[in-house]
Amino acid sequence: MLKPHFRVNPAGHLVCGGVDAVELCEEFGTPLYVMDEERIRDNYRRFLKAFSRRRVRLCYALKANSNSAVVKVLAEEGAGADVSSENELRIALRAGIEGEKMVFNGNLKTEAELKLALRHGVAINIDNFQELEVVGRLAERMRTEARVSFRINPDLRAPTHPYIATGLRESKFGFEVGSGEALEAYRRARGMKNVKIVGIHAHIGSQILDPSPFVEEAEKVMGVVAELHEMGIELEFVDLGGGVGIPYRPEEREVRLEELAERVISAVEEVEEEKGMGKHLLVFEPGRYLVGDAGILLARVEYTKERRGLPRWISLDAGMNALIRPALYGAYHHIELANKMNLKNDTLTNVAGPLCESGDFLGKERLLPKAERGDLAVIFDVGAYGLAMSSQHTAKPRPAMVMVRRGRAALIRKRETFRDLVRLDLLPPWLR
Ligand SMILES: Cc1ncc(COP(=O)(O)O)c(C=O)c1O
Repeated sequence: MLKPHFRVNPAGHLVCGGVDAVELCEEFGTPLYVMDEERIRDNYRRFLKAFSRRRVRLCYALKANSNSAVVKVLAEEGAGADVSSENELRIALRAGIEGEKMVFNGNLKTEAELKLALRHGVAINIDNFQELEVVGRLAERMRTEARVSFRINPDLRAPTHPYIATGLRESKFGFEVGSGEALEAYRRARGMKNVKIVGIHAHIGSQILDPSPFVEEAEKVMGVVAELHEMGIELEFVDLGGGVGIPYRPEEREVRLEELAERVISAVEEVEEEKGMGKHLLVFEPGRYLVGDAGILLARVEYTKERRGLPRWISLDAGMNALIRPALYGAYHHIELANKMNLKNDTLTNVAGPLCESGDFLGKERLLPKAERGDLAVIFDVGAYGLAMSSQHTAKPRPAMVMVRRGRAALIRKRETFRDLVRLDLLPPWLR
């Protein structure tokens, strides 16, 4: 079942953003990432609407897809930004997002990165005591005030892949709650001259489809907010991070966003009302939810191979170099043939990439129409953590990316060339 922003034209071709996928490949080549602008806007508005009875800010997590055009679309919608590096911060600024609408995350922010954040008034979600000291010192030296928030570790198991579950005690992130570490961080910050406490932050993981872990997270975070209130520390915002998932498999259902919003808001308001606190600004950092299903990857079937008694192999011109999620997490991405959408999916097929390792596949044992050399495969739901995590393995240039909107297409990232690949290589003097 195709998601509602796609359709199939009478020729049996996939249509995305009003543009025929086959024509896109003729014009821009393969492998090709395609981002659907309207879908990004719809996703943003749907998320915002679910929380509309509260003051809420969506800080788009640039790590999902930091392409300038994608960020610009979300900036136009009014999004803030969750940045995790100096360059993400720069991209967000260039897209027109003000520093005050950003949060800076991560367990390792360099001094150079922190300075840029301080210069632009970005709220820094502090991860450890040493970072707090560094931020305090830099702010003093820069004669400015650091807006800080603390990432707490809620010690909460999220139902997702272990690599993207981040809220467990044994994970590298944040201040422990149980041991009193989190409160100690606030206590120390309160005594610092150039530091202003503005919030609290947690992020339990990514690709979570069930509302319950978010409710548990909100309860844990609000427990700390209540204790801070007792200590006389009031916060501007409560930042519950990102992590809302999307259905990747045809049988998976969408997150019940209204239910999630209602339950999270109730958990937050229960504590606010009980303690007689003002209402906090609620912050979320969605990445995948906003851009994941807005992106497809189009790749050419270059060769096919029969193996008696086994699924047929097809080799695409895109593999783990272009999209690493299947190889890295065993992630499922739905695959179809973009030029044969009206044919029966009747052939058991393994979908390989071009690289020299057996882990280089995009899907195993998939039912597809019988693919021939020259057909076009479409890999769905790659708008998040697709191009952003791609590599130049085997000196393959990274794919191009286009944006589609109401029947128009425009290149938003050029395909890499041989020059791009070798541009930064140098020879030592003795080899010249
Ligand atoms: C701190 C933080 N916020 C937000 C996100 C975005 O997560 P998602 O794309 O699942 O919404 C991540 C992802 O790793 C993260 O680490």
